[in-house]
Amino acid sequence: MKLNILPFLSALSMGLALPSDAPSRRFDQNIGIDLPALFSETTTAKIWRTAVDSISQLPGKFPNYVPSTGSNIGQYVFSDISAWTSGFFPGSLYELLERSVRFPDHLKTGSVDPEDIHDQLLDLSRQWAKPLQTQAFRTNTHDLGFLIMPAFQKDWELTGNQDSLDTIVTAAHSLATRFDPRVKAVRSWDSLVNKRQNITNKETNFLVIIDSMCNMDLLFYAGHHTGNQTLIDIATAHAHTVRRNIVRKNYSTFHCCNIDPQNDQIKFQETVQGYKDWSTWSRGQAWGILGYIQTYRWTKDAVFLQTAIGLAEYFVNRLSKSSHTHPYVPLWDFDAPTVDGVLPPRDTSAGLVAANALLLLHQALQGESPYLDHALQIVRETIDLSLSHDPASLTLSPNGKTAVPAGNWDSVLMNATINNNEYSLSRSNNTGLVYADYYFLRFGNRLLEMAFA
Ligand SMILES: *[C@@H]1O[C@H](CO)[C@@H](O)[C@H](O)[C@H]1NC(C)=O
Ligand SMILES: *[C@@H]1O[C@H](CO)[C@@H](O)[C@H](O)[C@H]1NC(C)=O
Ligand SMILES: *[C@@H]1O[C@H](CO)[C@@H](O)[C@H](O)[C@H]1NC(C)=O
Ligand SMILES: *[C@@H]1O[C@H](CO)[C@@H](O)[C@H](O)[C@H]1NC(C)=O
Ligand SMILES: *[C@@H]1O[C@H](CO)[C@@H](O)[C@H](O)[C@H]1NC(C)=O
Repeated sequence: MKLNILPFLSALSMGLALPSDAPSRRFDQNIGIDLPALFSETTTAKIWRTAVDSISQLPGKFPNYVPSTGSNIGQYVFSDISAWTSGFFPGSLYELLERSVRFPDHLKTGSVDPEDIHDQLLDLSRQWAKPLQTQAFRTNTHDLGFLIMPAFQKDWELTGNQDSLDTIVTAAHSLATRFDPRVKAVRSWDSLVNKRQNITNKETNFLVIIDSMCNMDLLFYAGHHTGNQTLIDIATAHAHTVRRNIVRKNYSTFHCCNIDPQNDQIKFQETVQGYKDWSTWSRGQAWGILGYIQTYRWTKDAVFLQTAIGLAEYFVNRLSKSSHTHPYVPLWDFDAPTVDGVLPPRDTSAGLVAANALLLLHQALQGESPYLDHALQIVRETIDLSLSHDPASLTLSPNGKTAVPAGNWDSVLMNATINNNEYSLSRSNNTGLVYADYYFLRFGNRLLEMAFA
């Protein structure tokens, strides 16, 4: 496949405008409006209902995925609070809270008093976030960005609650303990055990994954809020190391790189969640775009912008060159095969993560880029293919206890894939995923923040 990234990058490095055929948009155009499903009352009603109905799961369990087979089709499966995904359901509640505070015209409340909605959302958001404070002290995970930022950044920014900023700073220092100056990176996983690997020795292994790039935002955020340059330097060094060892020459990505910390040599570059070691796992590529555009926003180092553009070009090229239906809803791995005419499972979470990243990229390029249109196309096709409901099917009721018809899915989106790798000990595909929904809500709010919707 030919990638047309080079003219793009060289134009950029010479400070020239982007290629003239790149469609661009001004900030003042109302374009979110053709996606009413992004802001539907049904979405709010579903998340609210889960928050109310499942409050007894707290403090230990959080919504994770929604199976499409078996005996609980359409119902959330809950995971232990320590799962890397636990921050996203509280995060989704905070996205709704943000709408009620900053964009009340885009939070449809039906017959319910908007002020009541705001008060109840704040209460629910805080109840769901509170138990996560315990996670900020952990030093055995790199997923502190995912666990902490979705809820506590919003709580701090929307309500000025000092406790929430303190939680972010605590988590950042916990994450910083995982930095190893020999490798110039933050350790992602302490171990890797599947049907192929059994790696548990931290003296001779240092596992770094592309997903880690999205946890760096926590370090930058806390570093800038407290004036601690060490946190910023750690995140920046990590971004350089991942770029060298995980981003390939053609801007596709490996998933996992194992480095020998004693001599800084690469032991292997493998996939753990994708199709093959050489292939490109679509969510990993999406984490990469998001992580590098965030890193660029904090550092303003052009090499990170260039990396984000390269990764984005790879992503949108693979989408736009697909010949199947709904090409902008990514396959779970760009290289996964069609077997007997049956397409591989999709991953709507990969699409929504990338769509968010593409909005940031568009913004970084001062609104002169093709990436806004690509982002909207991803979301448009995802709504068409994978929305689990008719957007007009549910209405809010005052206590969140919306009556839900049988067969209605808990999640907003279907067709996400957690880990379909052949060596996985818990292979799973085609589910709803709490983070697909979170990035769906985040995308809507980003459009509003950018004054598009
Ligand atoms: C800055 O953060 C680093 C890493 O957590 C820590 O070791 C150091 O003590 C902090 N510096 C200050 C002045 O707080
Ligand atoms: C991995 O290795 C450890 C010993 O190093 C062993 O106890 C464990 O059973 C192994 N696990 C698997 C899945 O092979
Ligand atoms: C990108 O590079 C990888 C690794 O070398 C290779 O397997 C893949 O085919 C390349 N992809 C494209 C689209 O060129
Ligand atoms: C999406 O998920 C639904 C529910 O499991 C399924 O019926 C449908 O075939 C899936 N679509 C794709 C494109 O995978
Ligand atoms: C989907 O996952 C199941 C296991 O949950 C596996 O048996 C099946 O092969 C996977 N399907 C595809 C098309 O990869």
